[in-house]
Amino acid sequence: MPSLSIYAGGLQLNNPILLAAGILGTTGASLCRAARSGAGGVVTKSVGSLPREGHPGPTIVHVEGGLLNAMGLPNPSYKDFQDEIDAARASGVPVIASIFGSFAAEFAQIARSLKADAFELNLSCPHAEKYGSELGRYPDLVESVTGAVKAASNVPVWVKLTPNTADIVELGLAAQRGGADAIVAINTLKAMAIDIETGYPILGNRFGGLSGPAIKPVAVRCVYELAGRLEIPVIGVGGVSTWEDAVEMIMAGASAVQVGTALLRGYGVFEEITTGLSRYLERKSMTLEELCGLAGKEKLQ
Ligand code: FUM
Repeated sequence: MPSLSIYAGGLQLNNPILLAAGILGTTGASLCRAARSGAGGVVTKSVGSLPREGHPGPTIVHVEGGLLNAMGLPNPSYKDFQDEIDAARASGVPVIASIFGSFAAEFAQIARSLKADAFELNLSCPHAEKYGSELGRYPDLVESVTGAVKAASNVPVWVKLTPNTADIVELGLAAQRGGADAIVAINTLKAMAIDIETGYPILGNRFGGLSGPAIKPVAVRCVYELAGRLEIPVIGVGGVSTWEDAVEMIMAGASAVQVGTALLRGYGVFEEITTGLSRYLERKSMTLEELCGLAGKEKLQ
């Protein structure tokens, strides 16, 4: 079987299929379980500088083609999260800590204090006041937050971008200028659902973020655009449910792929995707490196 091991974004990965932030990433035990189930690396739920309860419920609703969530960045604060990261690191796969803040020094303080294999900067949550895309839609803030975290830490820094913008490449270039080791694209699309019996928005926060198969074509387009313009690796995320989706994302230019909403099917998705990807590479007599960005180069025979 072809090797799936890859060096991406400053990390050596056994395979390029990673657990995305926000799903099953709140405890060391669930992160370990993802690793034991075949994830090449795991990203934690985002943590900030203070404990947050998050938005009022309902916080999740199923919609056609995916899920709408407005969790509201609930977390115990980074001060009470190191044990979970340490437990997850015992699994042997890289643990990437997703962190958020509302200004550069807040991100830097968390990065200075937390020990992880890499940081993923959440500059893209579409529904949390003063956080996420409220900073991440401005290139100058993306650059300064990235630069501050790079200066505060000595591990790779990944920057997760929002698709809720006219020009995601501009944001990617800003992260690259700030010293990012990789871009993660994309976070959820800002969206809402309304209960037609009552006339009320379903989510407690009214607005949320759409994930799942419905957003995969948007994610593929963003990865393609970013990979075509940036020097640093792009990690693709958004609606990847099957090995075919992962192949498509890698062909668009993703060096690695994160899986989130598909975990609703269970931890078996990691094995399904890595096995399918291996068999595909074997059938096409290709390496992972040859597959990466193929859609921007030449077509398969
Ligand atoms: O609300 C949340 O915790 C989601 C975060 C995100 O979309 O990045």
